[in-house]
Order: sequence, then structure tokens, then C-alpha cells
Amino acid sequence: MQFHRVKPLDLILQTAEKKALKRQLGAFQLTMLGIGAIIGTGIFVLTAEAGQKAGPGMMIAFVIAAVVCALAALAYAELASMVPVSGSAYTYTYAVLGEVLAWVVGWALVLEYAVAAGAVAVGWSGYMNGLLISAGMPLPEMLRTGPMDGGSFNLLAFIISLVVTGLLVIGTSKSAKVNAVLVAIKIVALIAFIGVAVPAVQDVNFEPFLPAGWGSPMGGIGVLGAAASIFFAYVGFDAVSTAAEETKNPNRNIPIGLIGSLAVCTVFYMLVSYGAVGAVGSQPVLGADGVPLHPGSAELAAACAGSEALVCSKEPLAHVLRLLGFASLGNAIGLAAALALPSVILMMIYGQTRIFFVMSRDGLLPERLSKVHPKFHTPHVITLLTGVFVSLFAAMFPVGVLADISNSGTLFAFIMVAIGVMILRVQQPDRPRPFRTPFVWVVAPLAVMGCLLLFLNLSMYTISMFLGWTVIGLLVYYAYGHRHSHLAKP
Ligand code: ALA
Repeated sequence: MQFHRVKPLDLILQTAEKKALKRQLGAFQLTMLGIGAIIGTGIFVLTAEAGQKAGPGMMIAFVIAAVVCALAALAYAELASMVPVSGSAYTYTYAVLGEVLAWVVGWALVLEYAVAAGAVAVGWSGYMNGLLISAGMPLPEMLRTGPMDGGSFNLLAFIISLVVTGLLVIGTSKSAKVNAVLVAIKIVALIAFIGVAVPAVQDVNFEPFLPAGWGSPMGGIGVLGAAASIFFAYVGFDAVSTAAEETKNPNRNIPIGLIGSLAVCTVFYMLVSYGAVGAVGSQPVLGADGVPLHPGSAELAAACAGSEALVCSKEPLAHVLRLLGFASLGNAIGLAAALALPSVILMMIYGQTRIFFVMSRDGLLPERLSKVHPKFHTPHVITLLTGVFVSLFAAMFPVGVLADISNSGTLFAFIMVAIGVMILRVQQPDRPRPFRTPFVWVVAPLAVMGCLLLFLNLSMYTISMFLGWTVIGLLVYYAYGHRHSHLAKP
């Protein structure tokens, strides 16, 4: 039956062996790779959005999102260590739940990677615009943000996405050394922020603590709504699993890389959010009905014009330091974000091209797409195609909208992975599991429930975009992949 067209695990492992990449990454490099992919727009920019959704209660949102990610990471680690090949959630789903769902997951990963790349580009533009304003060379206001955010075209986000795409086409890839330097820059920036903001914390800034309550399903607001958005700040740890084919002793190192990078980032995020909220306050801007205005809405953009509130800032961490009287340090943090965020865009677009590569290796996408450039030896067609779309999203949409849409795809993929772990435990109990999810019958169901909880607390708009995207994906599958799949051939 076609619904159960499953690609057996052994076949997946064989295919991967045929086109093996060199195994050179160790546990430390993987953890650095994870931190490099994780710390980005989420903490540097979406802190403002989380404040608008939950007020000081966003600190709880950071904890909830971290717990959900930790549960998902434990499930991810089992599959990543059992099936150490490229393609992450897409590949695992192919082996366990069959081709249709694998396609849907792969299609959802486009949201996770390509749309996330757009979100990070918009976040980067916020900091760059801040630096240009500080330097007395501001861009015209219309070119600083997209149409939903009070401007008309986000020029810098558009340009950076194209530049990163160009770098990927000519073969710039994640260099471990450059990554290590950028990780260091980000960590120093966050430590500097914590060092200044935490001592400035005042009790009064935590009152009222939950101005928007806990939130309601599809409301996209309140603590749970903020958790669903700030989840973006933790996304990226799964980039570690996509490097499985390039990892030495993946069975030991992948789980260490996944969980280690998540743990380090969680500690930083807790301290940064405590410092930001406590030092300057993070009360949301309310509408006439007393409910916080939706981030990414024209109403909020209008209400925020000229406001000094944290929740209105496009560069919240730099803004907090400037409000505290540390303007130069604020600019330095802006510079750190401006230097480091492009590498997150690069990893996201890179991740996207590799997922497409595996999907076309399976015949679900045309092989033409994964054509390799004769001189640069990169999959230039798919990279350019991805890059053009990313640049357009980035130019037109606000960061929060893109991050939420990206989260919907990621949460869906994580749900599939956690279900896959449980199914494999039943179907293939004896297959070697170098890393076993501890208490799997508690952890995996909790991961599914946690991801579902966050998914349902995205806004109605985001959930509709996700469903629309999935329907388009199924049409594409039945029009192409279903017939061209390598598994469809004898
Ligand atoms: N976690 C990554 C970021 O926050 C995607 O930019």
C-alpha cells in the first residue's frame, strides 16, 4: 500500500554509505555547531516579541520552550544515533511512517529552514539599522522594515539573504574555525549583557507579572503564546543531527552535541531574559480592549512609533543597554549581532539545500535541482532557488510572523520524530540503539504533547499558513514525487 511505502532503515544506511562524506567532527565541534545554529534572532530580537505577548511572564515562556526542546532533543538523539545520515526528521519519518508523511515532514522542514533563514535575516536588519542610525547614516524609514511592519521593503534583510546565498553558491560552508569565532562573539555579547542588566534588576519591573495571562489555543498571546514564539530561539540544535554523516563516532557524539548545545543556550537565555525584564520592564502595548496588540500587526507598528518600550524595539538587547546608559556597549552588542547572525542564516539555507538534496536523491524532487556546479562543486540550482525565496520573505514579512511560521513546521517535524521513536521501539526492539531516550514511554509522549501544546498556541494566522502549506505540499507530492520516487520503481 502506497501510504506505507517505507524506506527500510538498512536501505537508508546503505544509500548514505555510497555517497559518504568525510567523518571529521567530534563532540566539542558538534556542540559548537549546535550553539552556532541556536543563538541568533530568537534571543537577540524575539525577546521583544515575547515581552509583547506575555510581559515579564516571558521568563516562564523561555523555561517552557526549553523543556519542550529538551524532550524533543532526547527523542531526536535516539533516532540520530540509530540513523546517522543526512536529512534528519525527513529521513527518520521515511523509515518509520512511510513516504507520504516523510514528504509532508520534508515539506514542513522548508518552513523550519528557509522561512527561519528569512526570520534571522529580518532580525539582522533590525540590528544593522540600529547601528546605521547610531552612526548617523540611517536608511529611509520605508526601507527599514516590510509592509506589515510600518515600512515598505526591508532592504537590508533582502540584501543579506542574497549575499549569504552567493557565498553558499561559491562554496562557503560552515567552517569550524569561523563558527568557533562567531560562537565566541555571541557568547561574549550575551555575557556582557547579563553583566550589565542583571545588577540593574528592580522588583518593580516584574509587576504585573502576567499582564496577558497564560493564553488560549490559537490566540498566539499570553505565556503559552510567547513560549510558542520563543521556541524559535532554541531551534537549530537539530542542525547537529544533520551533520551526522560527517561525525566521528556519531553514536556517542551526536547525543552529546544535541543536548550539550541546548543546555548551554538555556542557561544563557534564562539569565538574559531575567536581566532584560528586570532592568527596564517588558509590559506589553495594549489595545483599546486592554489586550496586548499582536506582534507583526499594523496596530502595534503604529502604537510603537517613537516608543522607547522594550517590546517595540527591533534590537532589544542593544536597546536595554542604551536605556541603562551604556550606549557604547549597546552598540557593541549590536555589532556582535550584526557579525554573528549571518552565520545562522547561512546554516539555515545550507540545511535547507541538504534536505532538498536528500529528497531529490530519493526521487521525490527532480534530480535537476540537485545538479552540482562544475566549478564550485555546490548544488547551485537549489541554493539559488532557496535564496531567492528567502530574500523575498525577508523583505516583505516581520520577523515574528516568519519565526512563528517556521516554528509551526519545526514543531510538526518534532512530533513526527517523537512518534517515530516509539514506533521503532515496538517494531524493531532489537536494532542497536547507541543512545536510548531515557524513560522513553514518558519522555516521547511528553515531547509530543509539549510540541502540540506550543503548536496550538501559535496564532490562528500561523496555523492556517501551516495547513495551507501542507495542502500545497500534498498536491506537489501527488503531481510529482509519488510517481518519481525511487521506491516506486522495481
Ligand atoms: N535559534 C535560531 C535563532 O534564534 C534559529 O536565530
